[in-house]
Amino acid sequence: MIEQLEAIHTEALQALAGIDSESALEDYRIRFLGKKGALTQVASGMRNVSKEDKPKVGQKLNEVRQAITSAVEQQAADLLAKKDALAAQGIDVTLPGRQPQRGALHPLTQVMDRGIRALRQMGFTLATGPEIETEFHCFDALNTPQDHPARNEKDTFYFGDGNLLRTHTSSVQVRTMETTPPPVRIIAPGSAYRRDEIDATHLSVFSQMEGLYVAEDVSLGDLKGTLESLFRAIFGPKTPVRFRPHFFPFTEPSFEIDIQLQAKDQEPKWIEIAGCGMVDPNVFAQICESRGDDLYDPDRVTGFAFGLGLERLAMIMWGIPDIRLLIENDQRFLKQFA
Ligand code: PHE
Repeated sequence: MIEQLEAIHTEALQALAGIDSESALEDYRIRFLGKKGALTQVASGMRNVSKEDKPKVGQKLNEVRQAITSAVEQQAADLLAKKDALAAQGIDVTLPGRQPQRGALHPLTQVMDRGIRALRQMGFTLATGPEIETEFHCFDALNTPQDHPARNEKDTFYFGDGNLLRTHTSSVQVRTMETTPPPVRIIAPGSAYRRDEIDATHLSVFSQMEGLYVAEDVSLGDLKGTLESLFRAIFGPKTPVRFRPHFFPFTEPSFEIDIQLQAKDQEPKWIEIAGCGMVDPNVFAQICESRGDDLYDPDRVTGFAFGLGLERLAMIMWGIPDIRLLIENDQRFLKQFA
């Protein structure tokens, strides 16, 4: 029996060398010291040992148990120390791995991309302009008189120097024509600012997409065809589109565009979605004066312009009930568009 015990002792010491985790150590402990472990099994043979040999064998048994127990404890302490050292370096190898999160485009970006794609196919190119504008580019050049309500301090953010945060992207029409000879065919997505009370349908910063096409012989038919194609590209090929007479200072005639949409189990509804019109000759005259040439002579060129609100488009497209959801960056909302 003594030999058996010594054999277990040797085996135990050898096996310990390969133990490198807490769970392996626990298995090891059970294997040698557990209720059905090697030592216990040998110990159960004690009753067959002769009286005179019992003390010696018993002592050996205790020795081996002691040795293995303290080896286990020592190894446990070593493992813990190793783990602590790694944790102290900021690496806790026992933590579960982190799933990398995949990003996705914001719903507003998705609507904008769709609009841009459809219009690019029709030959429009991207244009930009500053968000801090002069009164000239935002209003005067767009045939908007001094007393027009949009120029009111109550509705528009003015800076001390007389400049302002643009109230619409139509200022990009002016900047484009100032620097580019006709024909021009541009779209200008970007932010616009109004001193609106923020509620479920209004923000003081929102996004628009402006369009402008100027050349010889651009007609109202071109305007209609272009915008019908645009909205059918976005909302589906059978979407009814309607042009309702309206007024804008910088277009004549002017229209608001409605599209007809039918929510599930509901009557079809007309929803206003954009403003548009034929560029007012007064705008062309102003451009000629700014440029100092007559390339935009209203007798020579005609054109159409349009502007749409992208938040509104997104809200209609996905049935988003509150515009503020689009700027709160709540993951639970945004994830639905991934
Ligand atoms: N700028 C107008 C608005 O913000 C929209 C518009 C653009 C209307 C171009 C006509 C032509 O309401």
